[in-house]
Amino acid sequence: MVVPSPQLAVIGGGQLARMMQQAAIGLGIRIRLLAEAPDVSAAQVVPDHVVGDYTDLDTLRAIVADAPVVTFDHEHVPPEHLRALETEGHACRPGPHALLYAQDKGDMRARLSEMGIPCPRFRMVTTAEELASFGFPAVVKTTRGGYDGKGVWVVRSAADADEAFASGRSLLAEELVDFRRELSALVARSPSGEVRAYPVVESRQANGVCAEVIAPAPDLDAGLDAEARAMAERIATELDVTGILAVELFETADGRLLVNELAMRPHNTGHWSIDGAVTSQFENHLRAVLDLPLGSTEARTPFSVMVNILGGAVEDLEAQRAVVLAAEPDVKVHLYGKSVKAGRKVGHVTAYGSDLDDVLARARRAAALFTDGVTHD
Ligand SMILES: Nc1ncnc2c1ncn2[C@@H]1O[C@H](COP(=O)(O)OP(=O)(O)O)[C@@H](O)[C@H]1O
Ligand SMILES: [Mg+2]
Repeated sequence: MVVPSPQLAVIGGGQLARMMQQAAIGLGIRIRLLAEAPDVSAAQVVPDHVVGDYTDLDTLRAIVADAPVVTFDHEHVPPEHLRALETEGHACRPGPHALLYAQDKGDMRARLSEMGIPCPRFRMVTTAEELASFGFPAVVKTTRGGYDGKGVWVVRSAADADEAFASGRSLLAEELVDFRRELSALVARSPSGEVRAYPVVESRQANGVCAEVIAPAPDLDAGLDAEARAMAERIATELDVTGILAVELFETADGRLLVNELAMRPHNTGHWSIDGAVTSQFENHLRAVLDLPLGSTEARTPFSVMVNILGGAVEDLEAQRAVVLAAEPDVKVHLYGKSVKAGRKVGHVTAYGSDLDDVLARARRAAALFTDGVTHD
C-alpha cells in the first residue's frame, strides 16, 4: 500500500499529540509524528511516526519533508531550527517569532508589559543581591524549560533561592500574587486571522500541577470574563499566534486579572472541551494550523469538570478501567497510554451536566478511583 503524504507534521509524541490524532481521525487529516521514543503516548496511535530527536535539524527536515505544515506537542524545538524549516518552505504554526513568548518567560513578561497587558511585578535576577532588592516574598522561575511547577520556587529569603541559583539557569523574580483563583482563557487563531475564544475556565493546581478545571469559571464577573477573552484575542493577534493560545491568568483578591504565562498549543485547561464543547481545542488547533474554518467554541452543557489522573496507588489503569466505568458510567475517560509514576499525568476524566456540585463530585470520584483506587467521600 502506498502511504499518502501527511498534511501535518506534529513534533513531540505526548498526550497532546495523541489527542490531536483523535481529532484528526474525524476530519480525515493525515498526521506524521516525530516521537521521542517508540512507545510514547502519541506513537501508539499515529501509524506514520518516526522516532528521533527534535533538537536535530536533519531529523526535523526528514519528518517535514513532504508535510506543508508543522505544529507541536510542546514548545521546546529550537527556534533556529524552525527558522530554517520556514526558509525551506514549511509553515511552522505557531511560528518561531510567536513561540518565543511561550518558550521564555522573561521575553514573555517584557513583551506583554510593552503591550500594556497587566502582569505580576517582575525583574530578571542573576544574584541573591538583586533578588533581595526586588523584595520578599517572591516567586523565582527559570525563564525556560519549566513545566508543572518544576522550575518555580516561592522564596521568602535569599537562602530559599539557593536551589534556583544553583540551577545555573536564567531566572525571573515575580511578586507572589495573592490570587483568589487561577483562570485560563483559550483562543484558536488561524493564519488568515479568524479567532475564536473558549469560555474562560477556572483551574486549580496542587503542587504546581493542574489538578482540576471547571468550565466555565463559576460566578465569574461578566466584566472580567470579557476582559480575559479580549486579552487572549489581542495577545494571539498581536503576537501572530496560530493554533491554540492558552493564557494562564490570576484573578487577584481585589478583582483584577494578571497574566501568569502563555502556552501555544492545546493546554491542560482546555481538555474539558473534548467532551464539553461543540469543537474541542484539539480539533480547533488542527483547523487553525491548516487554515481551515474554525468550529464553535461554545459549551454543550452548563458545566464541565475535568480532573487529571495523576499516577498514584493504582498501577494498572487498564484493570481499573472497568471499576471506574461501573461506578461512573457517564464520566468520560481519557487514558494516555503512559506507565504510572507518582504524580505523572497519565489521563483525565470529564463529567458534565447542569448541577456543578454533582458534576464536580462525579469527576473527582472517577479520578480518585483511577489514582487511589478508592473514593474520598
Ligand atoms: N507570581 C506568582 N504568584 C503566585 N503564584 C504563582 C506565581 N507564579 C506561579 N505561581 C503558581 O505556580 C504555578 C506554576 O507556575 P507557572 O509559571 O505557570 O509554571 P509552569 O510552567 O510550571 O506552569 C502557577 O499555576 C501558580 O499556581
Ligand atoms: Mg503554568
